[in-house]
Amino acid sequence: MPSPSLLLRALHADITTLDCDAIVNAANSSLLGGGGVDGAIHRAAGPALREACRALNGCRTGEAKLTPGFRLPARYVIHTVGPIWRGGRQDEATLLAACYRNSLELARQHDLRTLAFPCISTGVYGFPAHLATPIALRTVREHGAGFDEITFCCFSTADLRLYEAALAGTK
Ligand code: APR
Repeated sequence: MPSPSLLLRALHADITTLDCDAIVNAANSSLLGGGGVDGAIHRAAGPALREACRALNGCRTGEAKLTPGFRLPARYVIHTVGPIWRGGRQDEATLLAACYRNSLELARQHDLRTLAFPCISTGVYGFPAHLATPIALRTVREHGAGFDEITFCCFSTADLRLYEAALAGTK
């Protein structure tokens, strides 16, 4: 059960501007940067982020790894690799849930209390946003104990509407 003090919120923002303990990056398995939110985070954090990621030797889909935030307002970046959507019958839902669960677990190990997620896998990786949103919300509700605030950072208003409806308990 989520802790009574856990605040979940949806925000229409650029995740690189959020001043929280950690922002989550929707990375690829190389962890060496890319487009989308990955590219934005690396641009904002500066070149030291890529060097720190290089030392991590990649990341498997569903796993999560931590680096400092460098020039970002956020103190840390949690890099996770979402599943590529292949029609929904290749464990994509399980792997996406693992991204959220493992990111929360890693944050908890480092005593982080405020966290922001992008809409993992719903861009380049093609995971339908209306299917990803309930997975994200359910996983964070189940594993969000011990956090003060978890933000679903939506880059589009369409995503924001999906999260606001899901948070309000309506489909
Ligand atoms: N802040 C918040 N969210 C953002 C930002 C940003 N600055 N830029 C993009 N997004 C959103 C997208 O609109 C989408 O909703 O992040 C979500 C995830 O989209 P992608 O960044 O394309 O990530 P993903 O679908 O997980 O694909 C990962 O894309 O960038 C490459 O290196 C990355 O290969 C990896 C793949």
